[in-house]
Amino acid sequence: MILSGFPRFIRCRVSPLSQNLKQPNNYLQTLSHSTHHHGIVSCLSTIPSKPISSSQLQIPLFLREPIYSATVSDLEKWKNWAKTLVYSVGSKFLETDNGPEVNTLYREIQWLLEDVVVEEQRVSTEEKVVKLRTEMDQLYFLWKQRIEKRRPFQYIVGCEHWRDLILCVQEGVLIPRPETAKIVELVQEVVAKDKGLREGLWADLGTGSGALAIAIGKVLGTQGKVIATDLSPIAASVAEFNVKRYDLQDKVEIRQGSWLEPLEDAKGKLAGLVSNPPYIPSDQILGLQAEVGKHEPRLALDGGENGMDDLLHLCEGAASMLKPGGFYAFETNGEKQSKFLVNFMMNHPKSMFQDVRILADFAGIERFVTGFCQ
Ligand SMILES: C[S@@+](CC[C@H](N)C(=O)[O-])C[C@H]1O[C@@H](n2cnc3c(N)ncnc32)[C@H](O)[C@@H]1O
Repeated sequence: MILSGFPRFIRCRVSPLSQNLKQPNNYLQTLSHSTHHHGIVSCLSTIPSKPISSSQLQIPLFLREPIYSATVSDLEKWKNWAKTLVYSVGSKFLETDNGPEVNTLYREIQWLLEDVVVEEQRVSTEEKVVKLRTEMDQLYFLWKQRIEKRRPFQYIVGCEHWRDLILCVQEGVLIPRPETAKIVELVQEVVAKDKGLREGLWADLGTGSGALAIAIGKVLGTQGKVIATDLSPIAASVAEFNVKRYDLQDKVEIRQGSWLEPLEDAKGKLAGLVSNPPYIPSDQILGLQAEVGKHEPRLALDGGENGMDDLLHLCEGAASMLKPGGFYAFETNGEKQSKFLVNFMMNHPKSMFQDVRILADFAGIERFVTGFCQ
């Protein structure tokens, strides 16, 4: 292959949402139980209520047919132009909002080519020709969007490499973050020790691309199943697409709807419940890195005034959904939210949780709250 690349496993390019901020984290100072309300209401009017049709799904570049071609010198010309655009940006993105630095953007050029260019197919008499999965013009257009609009690289190529999965994503669907993978490890640990959990029914609430549901579906036993919910029809459709791509239709079911509402039939029966809900305080959305704040869905980010609206709502509902001994894991924005959540769970009058813990992500941020139902 003419385009030697970076190993796929380092193609996780997004940092934790809380690190995509250009503002300091002082939002929990005013946090109280009475602030609980649903931050989603303001976004609802922009969301179509029905699943999107398959024609609205964006097929990622790497899955498209290589029906176009270009000469190697045309491709080199594109590469030089793309690098010049990056060079002209320099450290501007980094300085403005902690955005991507030059080396990251150079790597993305390489990754984009890896997804678009197919091994040399033939050698014409004059010049080498390669097969492409998109037209040359489109390649120019996509890279201009990347630099000029700060469109996230994952939306440009239509996928994200996450754990051992390649998940399709598009506008309207959160790009799965590397730290969220820790939830899968936690689930792996508990199911390894407990057959009831391994063969039980799990829920992933706010599934987005289906990342957690698919990864958990793969670690459960033969009888184990996952129901994944999302309010966003785009997310539900994309998650469905990803589930099919991994041939997990028998194991992972996607249901569109708000949090626990589509799970009435699973009340008191869940062996496990996981969620990475929106947890960014509303007033910090504007301060996010442009790739995130301008392009990722607000419905996936905005956790209300203190970022805790959805976390608290889910905590309140979790006890009635889980069977005794059932496990849960929630992702939060970090230490303050995690501590608040633990306090809320332990002191809530109807609390039925035990062994409640805070666990750190790989960067040492106390990001996860886990526990069991009594
Ligand atoms: C932070 S994203 C997490 C996505 C995915 N689980 C991941 O980790 O990549 C939060 C998700 O919750 C969904 N969501 C927001 N409000 C919801 C609601 N009321 N009911 C169900 N899902 C909701 C969003 O559409 C989004 O997909």
